Amino acid sequence: MPAPLEIVILAAGQGKRMASDIPKVLHDLAGKPLLAHVLDTAQALKPEAIHVVYGHGGERVRDAFPETPVKWVRQEEQNGTGHALAQAMPAVADPATVLVLFGDVPLIRPQTLKVLLAASASGNLALLTAELADPGGYGRILRNPAGKVVRIAESRDATPAEAAVREINTGFMAAPSARLKKWLSGLNNRNAQGEYYLTDIIGLAVAEGVSIATCTPADISEILGVNSKQELAQLERIHQRQQAEKLMQQGVTLRDPARLDVRGELRCGRDVVIDVNVIFEGKVTLGDRVHIGPNNFIRDCTIGTDTAILPNCVLEGADIGTSCRIGPFSRIRPETKLAAQVHVGNFVEVKKSEIGEGAKMNHLTYIGDSTVGCDANIGAGTITCNYDGVNKHRTVIGDHAFIGSNTALVAPVTVGAGAVIGAGSVISRDAPGGALTLTRAEQVTRLGWKRPVKKSNK
Ligand code: UD1
Ligand code: CA
Repeated sequence: MPAPLEIVILAAGQGKRMASDIPKVLHDLAGKPLLAHVLDTAQALKPEAIHVVYGHGGERVRDAFPETPVKWVRQEEQNGTGHALAQAMPAVADPATVLVLFGDVPLIRPQTLKVLLAASASGNLALLTAELADPGGYGRILRNPAGKVVRIAESRDATPAEAAVREINTGFMAAPSARLKKWLSGLNNRNAQGEYYLTDIIGLAVAEGVSIATCTPADISEILGVNSKQELAQLERIHQRQQAEKLMQQGVTLRDPARLDVRGELRCGRDVVIDVNVIFEGKVTLGDRVHIGPNNFIRDCTIGTDTAILPNCVLEGADIGTSCRIGPFSRIRPETKLAAQVHVGNFVEVKKSEIGEGAKMNHLTYIGDSTVGCDANIGAGTITCNYDGVNKHRTVIGDHAFIGSNTALVAPVTVGAGAVIGAGSVISRDAPGGALTLTRAEQVTRLGWKRPVKKSNK
């Protein structure tokens, strides 16, 4: 039986080059903190326990994940990666296989980590390494003439010959807990940075005759870390591109995969088309043949089959039915439910309302806290006056009602089924169904009335 898996995520570093007051691992990638990506990947491996070493930024990192089942370990001073891992080890069981992840390397895939774990299965120390054309600040993997790993040299401590090595340490490693504890206790901080380097355990393991297994990631983006805002932006683009590729593999038409941002979970039916500059946040589900026009912002919505979202809309927390037509320039706010074939047009705002099948509101309207019946027609400029300055009240509009343009519906108020409201009315009492209701001042014409003339200033 393989030893149980325990994962340690190192996330205590400051991230100086982010030039920010926010702890580095709390910066967002695709709408969620870097550390959340690593935690999701860790959870996908179904470990016995996840330990997160945090420190810089005080309790902010821990407080950002109140619900996640994690063992938090505080590293008071950031004395290096070896020191950080050592803080977590007392809480790690024995026997266990320990997998080390970094909180600022968010795109690592579970499949790659499974390969790394398999490499450490027989009690080995396993490292994930990669060949880089420009190895930069990464630790260098040093091998003997037989090709066996003997040591890692940190770039700041490397001789010119060592620095020329292009195989680098990605930072991901797996090892049995008992041996790891022993090696960690043997570390010192006699190096360029005065830190306890986790990477120095390689030399200690080799000295004990332990052989080091190595493997490589499927894609180099998996091992890229975030140390600056530039790198954060680069990883965002890589991640967005990967999500766009997946959507296209599923059959979604993207007018331009470089002009789509998915910050959450997007599920699409068949033959969905997404035009340029669309942002999806939270959980969004698009039914078959949904068409999303350019420049739309859609958060936490379900959109039914055959619905078209025309350009420049903001949709949040709405359940939109089938064959609807929304936009251009519509705003749909949370707790709105549209039945099938609803039309919502330009400069129309709908909030916390239920709109019946086939209802239309095509121009310049606010519908809030309302129930609108089937096939109702809401004329241009209709406003539900739902707020009396203290409380919110409901408006109910019956099936087939016709609300004339520029009507103010002063809630609470009910307009009956089939009612017609004359244009320009202020409706503050219930309007019965099947009748015409209107409030309107008499129209007067003054014959012979003269427009004033401008006085000449002599
Ligand atoms: C480390 C490796 C280097 C590797 C690189 C890969 C060491 C000594 N070096 O270097 O070989 O190529 O990662 O990205 O391990 N951290 C703590 N507490 C600390 C110090 C760091 O929790 O006291 C955390 C950081 O938050 C970060 C991770 O450990 O998530 C790596 O630390 P960082 O300082 O970025 O290490 P590198 O210099 O990049
Ligand atoms: Ca780093």
